[in-house]
Amino acid sequence: MKKGIKVVGIISSARFNGNTAALVREALKGAEAEGASVTEVFLPKYKLGFCTGCLTCTAEGKCPIPDDFENLRKIIYEADGIILGSPTYATEHNAIMKCFLERLGPYTLYSSLLGGKYGAGISTAYGSTAKKVAKGLTGVFKFGIFQRSYVSGFLGINTMVKGVERRMDKDIDCLNKANLLGRKMVLDIKSENKYPLQNLIMRLIIPIFLKPVFKKSILRNKDGRERATYNSLLKRGLI
Ligand SMILES: Cc1cc2nc3c(=O)[nH]c(=O)nc-3n(C[C@H](O)[C@H](O)[C@H](O)COP(=O)(O)O)c2cc1C
Repeated sequence: MKKGIKVVGIISSARFNGNTAALVREALKGAEAEGASVTEVFLPKYKLGFCTGCLTCTAEGKCPIPDDFENLRKIIYEADGIILGSPTYATEHNAIMKCFLERLGPYTLYSSLLGGKYGAGISTAYGSTAKKVAKGLTGVFKFGIFQRSYVSGFLGINTMVKGVERRMDKDIDCLNKANLLGRKMVLDIKSENKYPLQNLIMRLIIPIFLKPVFKKSILRNKDGRERATYNSLLKRGLI
C-alpha cells in the first residue's frame, strides 16, 4: 500500500472564500482524514502568465516565463492526487484554470507526467452546467499517452436555488459530497484502483494511433526540441 500520499487542491476562483474554494477545501479535509498530506493552491495568489507556445518546455523541461509556474509544476508532479476546482464561467472552467492547464503544457502531456496520478474535478455554477464543467476538468487526466491517469470522480453543484445563492461552506450535504470525493481519491491511491473500464475508447485509440506517432516524433527529436520529453520518459522507463 502506498505511503506518504500527497493530495493537492487547485482553486482557480478569485473568491478566496467562494463556493468552489469551500468545496475544494472540504475535499482536502476528506483526503487528510484518510491519511494524505494535503496542499491547497489558491491560483489567483500566484503570478501566472499566458503560455506563449514557444515549446521550450519540451526541450528544457521548464518554462522560460519568469513567474511562479515552476513552483506549481513541482507541486503537481509530486502529488499522487490532484483536485481541480474552478467556478463555471461562460459555461466552461474559468480563464485562470485554463491558463494553468495550458502552462502544464505539451511537456506534461507528451511525457505523461500526470501518469499514475488520480484526478478529480469540482465546479460550482448558478445553473446546471456545473456538472459538465466539473467533469470536463477531469479531461486533463484522460490523455496519458505513455502512462495513464485515473479519475476518482467529479462534483458539480448548482448553487442558485429560487434566486438565492447557497453558501457551500454552510451546506452540509454539499460539503459531505466534497469530503467523500477527497476520501475516495485517497482510497483509490491506497488500493491502486486501476479503474479498468474508465476512459476505454481513448485507451484503445492511444496505443494504436497516438502513441506510435508521438514516439516517432519524440525519438526523432530527442536531442533537440523533445530532449526533456525524451529524458523524462527514458528515466521512467516509458520509452
Ligand atoms: C464571469 C462570470 C461568468 C459566469 N458564467 C456562468 C455560467 O456560464 N453559467 C452559470 O451557471 N453560472 C455562471 N456564473 C456564476 C458562477 O459560476 C457561480 O457564481 C460560481 O458558484 C462562483 O464560484 P466561486 O464562488 O467559487 O467564485 C458566472 C459568474 C461570473 C462571475
